[in-house]
Amino acid sequence: MGSAGLLSRHKVEFAKKLVQVCPGDLNRVIFAGSGADAVDGAIKLALGATGRTKILSMVKAYHGHSGFSLSANGKDYYKELFEPLMPNFDFLPFGDLNAFLRKADRNTAAVILEPIQGEGGIHVASDEYLAGLRRHCDNLGIQLIFDEIQTGFGRTGKLWAYEHSSVVPDIMVLAKSIGGGVYPNGAIVYRDTPVLTNFGEKNPWFHVSLGGGSDIGCRISSKVLDYIVENRLWENAERMGGKIRNGLLKLQEQNPEIILEVRGRGMMLGLEYKHDFMGMLMAECLSRKGMFAAYSGNAPQVMRFQIPLTLSEPEADEVISIIEEALKIMKLYLILLMPLSRLPLIGRVLNNQKVLISSSAFLRKFGF
Ligand SMILES: Cc1ncc(COP(=O)(O)O)c(C=O)c1O
Repeated sequence: MGSAGLLSRHKVEFAKKLVQVCPGDLNRVIFAGSGADAVDGAIKLALGATGRTKILSMVKAYHGHSGFSLSANGKDYYKELFEPLMPNFDFLPFGDLNAFLRKADRNTAAVILEPIQGEGGIHVASDEYLAGLRRHCDNLGIQLIFDEIQTGFGRTGKLWAYEHSSVVPDIMVLAKSIGGGVYPNGAIVYRDTPVLTNFGEKNPWFHVSLGGGSDIGCRISSKVLDYIVENRLWENAERMGGKIRNGLLKLQEQNPEIILEVRGRGMMLGLEYKHDFMGMLMAECLSRKGMFAAYSGNAPQVMRFQIPLTLSEPEADEVISIIEEALKIMKLYLILLMPLSRLPLIGRVLNNQKVLISSSAFLRKFGF
């Protein structure tokens, strides 16, 4: 069982191993059952430890679907059916330090962000922005929370995305790759500061989960981490990610009417199309060529490529050639759709997310 009250060799070994590979003084661990559960625990830690009531998150952020994490999501689509959610959450444009300064005050417990926004459409936070947040959080006593649930475990070309900027958060949340796609697990890793440690020690049960941090989960997470570290998979993410990025940039040059921008870091890449509807259409075209690619939940015009970190060179070539083929299929659809999309009403309907989802289901149902 995962309960923190039932410590075991496997839990302790994995927790120790995890903090050893986290540069900076991130050296305390609480396990969680999922990413959303870890985000909930991190926000509770910040609220409880500071005694403050306000949380700042980012427009287009994605942090999960449970209480605090859902409230921190920066898109109404996920939230509107369940309001009222948790109080005192406010949202900032990602990357805008002045917006942070306008909203942050001495009642702000934490600011939470993904160092590279995933669902938001692969937006990389600049080093200056992160350093600025760190500085102002220190001045105002605000806890800086990094959600590394997508960016962690080597995906961006470093083991943790925060290493690119050397800005160490107060609290980091992890999930997804922590279980290697085999077994769910999650973790809240935090700094040993008086405010956080005192709260954790006085309230050892403030966030518990029977499932998160189970012995099986920790044994698997431990092996996953060993494999990543022994094989320095972040270096492969950097190399193969660079290769795919170059391939995508070439496709952008050849298809300026379709591709607006290629961005990201390591093996966390985003391809922004000129119109919202193109993300869903391209997902369809790629699936016909055997590739499963998701457009970003909070930015449907951006396709996310988060390919396994073990990708080989021939596989990277194959990825690019499949995308090339899928673009050819998409161009056939565009002969009809592009003129239609220029008509204001039809353009609005085409780019509406609900219409996109139901038309894709309709086409599949009838075997297209
Ligand atoms: C950045 C980020 N945070 C939090 C979550 C929530 O994780 P989980 O689905 O494990 O609850 C996700 C899941 O996609 C995520 O991408």
